[in-house]
Amino acid sequence: YEWNEIALNIAKEVEKEILPFFGKPEGGKVIGVSPSGDKTKLIDKIAEDVVLNALKPLGVNIVSEEVGSIDVGSDYTVVVDPVDGSFNFIHGIPVFGFSFAVFKGNKPEYAMLYEFITKSVYEGISGEGAYLNGRPIHVRELNEKSIAISFYTRGRGVELINKVKRIRVLGAIAIELAYLAKGSLDGVLDIRDYVRPTDIAASALIAKEAGAIITDDTGKELKFELSASEKLNIIAVNDEKLLKLILESI
Ligand code: IPD
Ligand code: CA
Ligand code: CA
Repeated sequence: YEWNEIALNIAKEVEKEILPFFGKPEGGKVIGVSPSGDKTKLIDKIAEDVVLNALKPLGVNIVSEEVGSIDVGSDYTVVVDPVDGSFNFIHGIPVFGFSFAVFKGNKPEYAMLYEFITKSVYEGISGEGAYLNGRPIHVRELNEKSIAISFYTRGRGVELINKVKRIRVLGAIAIELAYLAKGSLDGVLDIRDYVRPTDIAASALIAKEAGAIITDDTGKELKFELSASEKLNIIAVNDEKLLKLILESI
């Protein structure tokens, strides 16, 4: 398979179908409940239908946020979040993306995150590197005096806020992990027992290939099932020192 072509074609098709709804409440009409218990909105469904129509003919397993798992016994599993950042999209906040990750067995092989408004294409290729619009990207060097992180919490570890310079919580963790990968943020953490594999499968590979360290909330390598309902905690950083600071605080 030419995964980059497949992913980009789907991203563009999703873009065409959903962008007319950007910032419009009608796109947020609730039409069901996802396997993880989240509400499925109209635009989530429109976007996912595009994804399923494109992927089903390939005969691969699919894990997608709203339908869950479709196992056809293939070696390949594509883990998709058709729109990460649905709230942002519906409310006119221009931070949302299309997340697409290919696994052979349990091993990630290829990932793409498409950021709709900036039209940025982030890719991660296992063992090869990470790219933004075809150019290699890397996490930035940590400057301990001006740490910038995205930090999702419901109270746990709040003192961490006093130990960093900037907090940026943008509402689309797939995008935020890509920002870590390109060196715009030093870390991204979500310790709400809430993140699902579909949210992070693509961007975790992109960030890892860009040099990020990605762990669970105990500092162990992050492992997840190819599922749309598992709930995770994630810490992704550019440097061991920041990981240590975070683990001491949460
Ligand atoms: C959302 C994003 C965001 C997180 C939200 C999720 P969705 O995904 O991943 O980072 O804070 O809680 O629901 O639902 O827009 O695909
Ligand atoms: Ca998501
Ligand atoms: Ca979604």
